[in-house]
Amino acid sequence: MRRVGGVVRPPGDKSISHRVLMLAALARGTSEIRGILTGDDVKSTARVLRQLGARVSPIRESRVTVSGTLLRARDARLNCGNSGTTARLILGVLAGLPTTATVTGDSSLRRRPMRRVTEPLKQMGADIKEQGDGLPLTIHGGELRGLRYTSPVASAQVKSAILLAALTGGVPVTIREPYRSRDHTERLFAHLGLGIHERDGAVGYRPSVMNVPAFAVSVAGDISSAAFMVAAAVLARDGELMIEHVGVNPTRTGFLVVLERMGAHVHRVNLRDEGGEPVADLFARPESLRGTEVAAAEIPTLVDEVPILAVLASRARGETVFREVGELRVKESNRLELVAANLRAVGVNAEVQGNDLHVEGTAKPPRGKVETAKDHRLAMSFAVLGTLPGADVKLSERKSVAISYPHFFQDLRRIYARRTTDDAR
Ligand code: S3P
Repeated sequence: MRRVGGVVRPPGDKSISHRVLMLAALARGTSEIRGILTGDDVKSTARVLRQLGARVSPIRESRVTVSGTLLRARDARLNCGNSGTTARLILGVLAGLPTTATVTGDSSLRRRPMRRVTEPLKQMGADIKEQGDGLPLTIHGGELRGLRYTSPVASAQVKSAILLAALTGGVPVTIREPYRSRDHTERLFAHLGLGIHERDGAVGYRPSVMNVPAFAVSVAGDISSAAFMVAAAVLARDGELMIEHVGVNPTRTGFLVVLERMGAHVHRVNLRDEGGEPVADLFARPESLRGTEVAAAEIPTLVDEVPILAVLASRARGETVFREVGELRVKESNRLELVAANLRAVGVNAEVQGNDLHVEGTAKPPRGKVETAKDHRLAMSFAVLGTLPGADVKLSERKSVAISYPHFFQDLRRIYARRTTDDAR
């Protein structure tokens, strides 16, 4: 059994990294970003912005500079790799610019739904040629009109695409969504003085300045990546782990709320602000867990943490139910079916019923083969399960972690570095 200790620092937040790059590319002058995520998805955003004419320095955590120029594209083919956020947000950016571009991605991204974004953008006046609900598609941006939109899904990508189109197109928008999704775009707009407001549960933006000012910003650590280290600490036998510099924006902290209900309290200390986002250091330690019910309204606040929460639920007393997690079918993989199938493959009772996921806790060591389908969050979730005593969890691949947490395996090893004598074999 294992003891955790020391300090880890998760990489920069993926959602915020995409957004600061895009806004810096739209800004007048040179912006400076510290602590950006160096994962493959962010590199996809940087590549696409360079193709559109922005000068983006190599993606390094220490410092990235972006010289915004009027973005332009003449029949560019923009390959967004595996990144749904790059594809959906860049469609918003392009909608308001006099450009024509074809947006595409890898085989996983090409299968992901895009109509949720193209539909409102078309209502704003963008000319979009698509075949079916996916990529590739061709967008011809230009003159837009304002929009009042009620989104059928709680998706920050949909909301952000509309806000970015409003920014580049210079038109007002109001957006409502069934449940509040992550609000990083709104916070960044507010931080840059771009006249965004919230009224009666809707987000409203009325372009007030012609140009986005160049800015300097530091990116909060990614709570979705920190979640894997928190989970490893909760499952350990002994010790305490500090996870420093974690973004604790309330639209993202559902993982901590659910963990608390399951019996694991994660302390937050040293709360501070970074670029309009709250940041804290977290302390996590081993706890015994009990099953819980995760309500549909909580899902947007932990949507990327369902795989690791399901892994934790498999070690809890009793059953855990995740309500209305159908959206997980259209993430980097069919995460809903794969989480259940992989849990079963390592000896856990797990089942999808309609859009709900049921996981039954067990004390049996997990043993078996896991198919990650090259989905970074599946790889990391089951790698954490593999740290349990007596576990033998074989991942189909490990490279996908580079999408969002390039030093994941180093960090996972490092937190067990200080061993007690009875751990030594
Ligand atoms: C993201 C929003 C979420 C999330 C994704 C990143 C973002 O997707 O799953 O990893 O940066 O806006 P949806 O907006 O589709 O729920």
